[in-house]
Amino acid sequence: MATRVIPYEDIEKQNYYMQSVRDMNMGKAEQPIACIKTFGCQMNEHDSEKIAGMVERMGYRIVPDEIEGKYNGRICDLIVFNTCCIRENAEEKVFGHIGALKGAKRAKPDMITVVCGCMTEQPHIIDEINKKYKNVDVLFGTHNLHRLPEFVHNSIFNNCRVCELSHTEGEVAEGVPVKRDSTFKAWVTIMYGCNNFCTYCIVPYVRGRERSRKMSDILKEIETLAANGVREITLLGQNVNSYGKDLTENDGCRSFADLLTAICERIEGTGLKRIRFMTSHPKDLSDELIEVMAKYPAVCKQLHLPVQAGSTAILNKMNRRYTKESYLALVERIRAKMPEIVLSTDIIVGFPEETADDFKETLDLVTKVQYDMAYTFIYSPRVGTPAAKNPNQVPEQEVKEHFGRLVELQNSVDRKKNEAMVGKTVEVLCEGLSRTNINRFTGRTEGNKIVNFTADVKNCQEATGKFVKVYIDSAQTWSLDGHAVEWEK
Ligand code: SAH
Ligand code: SF4
Ligand code: F3S
Repeated sequence: MATRVIPYEDIEKQNYYMQSVRDMNMGKAEQPIACIKTFGCQMNEHDSEKIAGMVERMGYRIVPDEIEGKYNGRICDLIVFNTCCIRENAEEKVFGHIGALKGAKRAKPDMITVVCGCMTEQPHIIDEINKKYKNVDVLFGTHNLHRLPEFVHNSIFNNCRVCELSHTEGEVAEGVPVKRDSTFKAWVTIMYGCNNFCTYCIVPYVRGRERSRKMSDILKEIETLAANGVREITLLGQNVNSYGKDLTENDGCRSFADLLTAICERIEGTGLKRIRFMTSHPKDLSDELIEVMAKYPAVCKQLHLPVQAGSTAILNKMNRRYTKESYLALVERIRAKMPEIVLSTDIIVGFPEETADDFKETLDLVTKVQYDMAYTFIYSPRVGTPAAKNPNQVPEQEVKEHFGRLVELQNSVDRKKNEAMVGKTVEVLCEGLSRTNINRFTGRTEGNKIVNFTADVKNCQEATGKFVKVYIDSAQTWSLDGHAVEWEK
């Protein structure tokens, strides 16, 4: 199915709804407040920046999220939950939060609660919300995010519950307002959805089929970001390596390697110095992409390459379409071109039928690859996925034991990798003062490692968003400590 860009007029229509809610809000004695709670991955974080853009234009002041719908003791006028359903605990958290708002809704019946995102693309979740959470006013999924103003408008002016579950796939919305969290780092979505159907994963069901944005729209967005002083961007997609497969010749770009090349050439000479991307499916990572990564200094020498399991038998059952051997060979090819590459991964422990021997393969692979970082997850059955129907689920005790062993192994690798950085001087993009120690700054290396450092700088504002050379004095398991030696001019 060809990807269709939603016509500009349809996006424009939302301006009418935004303005109408804004007019009502501006008539109030005090500016209404709104809070956006985000769960899940970077994709959702970026969607929440779009939600924030629309909410602000509706006349709300966005406040930090606090418990039970209150900010400084005042009940919020609008609360948006942008949800995730990747694992069961992600959903439980959301239900806990929504349930906790029932008291606030009783105290302030005109407060509007919106639940959107991946969770609400599932019919059984909608049923549960309809049955148990009458305090929810607006429900919609991932395909109609750009229509949030219309839904909020209808809920307020018709004084009714709005439940809009559209499954129109194959669409991309351009021109939605965005309120970005950072002035110097930005997410840029290059594609939506996923076609891979890994047997444990809910994402293809809740995000739909792959749709690529046009290269011209992506380049325009990146140019604007560079002109506004952004220093680092992260390109987002569930599998960025299949970018462009749904585009036509006319769109001028058919592969992720092409897109990355065009971006690198477009930003040359600007202050935008770093490009990252995620996520890369190992089965689709081409040698051409490795070449492009190695060629352009702006592409961070960092790669998130989820392996999920070390056993080829389990990888098969997961429908990952690579083997342990082909994955290891890919890592070798990447390291041959970029010896300094910082590698991270995702690993699932306790996939149905995973035996002790299968798990040993995961330990072996982790030992061989020596990742800088691994996100480890306990398998969680997701309604509607093939793996959830498998009767041979691994006993909880065994999963926990394996999980503990894997975490222990990876922690020792993390630490060893970080210790190897001591005594080196690395370039860091300063993100401001450290949250845990206000006498220190924090930032990230090209490899995405967190560095906390001291610096003789009076004005924190001036340092934020600047590149600085930092000498690494010592290492922790998940971060590095150092001191600034030279700031960018
Ligand atoms: N598109 C990305 C990431 C998807 S979700 C990719 O393909 O890598 C992020 C991670 O969550 C996955 O890599 C996987 O490790 C984990 N995950 C997905 N479904 C899961 C499940 N049912 N149980 C446990 N972990 C899961
Ligand atoms: Fe899920 Fe697999 Fe798609 Fe990643 S590639 S989102 S793990 S189905
Ligand atoms: Fe992301 Fe969770 Fe949805 S991981 S794509 S927010 S299910």
